[in-house]
Amino acid sequence: MDGEQNSVTEGIDLTSNASDKIEAARSLFPGAARNVYMNVSVRGLLSTRVKEAVDRYLDEHSTGEWDKQELLASVEETRQRFATLINASPDEIAITKNASDGLNMIAGSLPWKAGDNLILCPEVEHPNNVYPWMNVERRFGVEARSVSPDDGRIPIQQMIDAMDERTRLVTVSTVTFAPGFVTDVETLTKASRERGVVCVVDAAQSAGVLHTDVEQLGVDALAVATQKGLLAFYGMGFLYCRRQLANQLTPAYLARFGVAVGDDAHETAMDLDRLRLADGARRFDLGNFNYLGATAANASLELLLDIGTRDIEAHVRSLAAQLASGMRDLGLPVAGGEPGPHLGHIVAVGKSGGGRHYTADDPAMNSLYEHLSTNGVKLAIRRGVLRLSMHLYNNDEDVRRVVDLSREWRSAQR
Ligand SMILES: Cc1ncc(COP(=O)(O)O)c(C=O)c1O
Repeated sequence: MDGEQNSVTEGIDLTSNASDKIEAARSLFPGAARNVYMNVSVRGLLSTRVKEAVDRYLDEHSTGEWDKQELLASVEETRQRFATLINASPDEIAITKNASDGLNMIAGSLPWKAGDNLILCPEVEHPNNVYPWMNVERRFGVEARSVSPDDGRIPIQQMIDAMDERTRLVTVSTVTFAPGFVTDVETLTKASRERGVVCVVDAAQSAGVLHTDVEQLGVDALAVATQKGLLAFYGMGFLYCRRQLANQLTPAYLARFGVAVGDDAHETAMDLDRLRLADGARRFDLGNFNYLGATAANASLELLLDIGTRDIEAHVRSLAAQLASGMRDLGLPVAGGEPGPHLGHIVAVGKSGGGRHYTADDPAMNSLYEHLSTNGVKLAIRRGVLRLSMHLYNNDEDVRRVVDLSREWRSAQR
């Protein structure tokens, strides 16, 4: 274990202060030197530590030197690390394919009754945190109550006001897909708990980048995928489900790993006389896991835990505030206005809500996007805004470069 830890954090002095550690970690991300990579909201960069772990996995598998018990143990280590990252217990974590897999596990296992309702703010959600609930509406006769965003923000008080005695669930993203504001989850969960309403969050945009503590947030379930802030692969994710809630749920899908057959029972063991669901969120585990995805996530989680998400959050929030201020000083329309609590690691430029998914309504914003892209800035356009999203591998120099390029573009417009 010690040897493994050294290999992952090699080159980083773990006793140094936060900013030195973060600066040293940048050298583990070749993509950060190649471009100004501000696109974690689509997909994060892979570190050399992840690549080394994956190479080892491929070597073992191409030579036939793999061991199934080790594969299973590595999934358990990954589960444990994700649990540590969000301050949960490993039994509260299920291994999933992606964020929507986790959201559907909850949607499909709650004991809905016709006439129940749930609350969401679809205009700022990714479709994968909208369709699972539309499906619940159609399948179980549940009303999905939509609230409208308030200038790009999820209106927490309106969500609370929309709750009544038939409200069973409320769902939000911890950080929205677009324009990428941080949601005030704690105010929502305080109200939902008082009313016995389950609060499910989509943390696809925040996990690994912003410090996440499920106890502090008070959420009942949280779903993520690993390709964004967790800096690993597509096709791998986690579902946190509070143990007390999980133990009341019957999964819609069931397979061997979701069943308690007995401690140390072989993966092919089966008890035909009795069906006992695994404790907590483990009941949502199905068959064999994405072992390669778990290997990548494990190496990445180890690095994130070593650096610490409190420090990563402070770093990215500071960069985002500099970037937002720099763009505002150029007279550009930064969504959300002045930096404030809404600003996490995503700076959105343009008119929120306009445009198609990949273009903005405003031709000037499409032109700025082109200028930044052709000059080596990796960013995205989502729902009308240019989305610049950062992680631990970004630095002040990246921010200066984007502001300088934007100034250059602005001058050329005049
Ligand atoms: C908020 C949010 N949820 C979910 C997803 C993707 O869902 P999945 O992991 O199921 O593909 C994204 C991806 O952009 C997202 O931004």
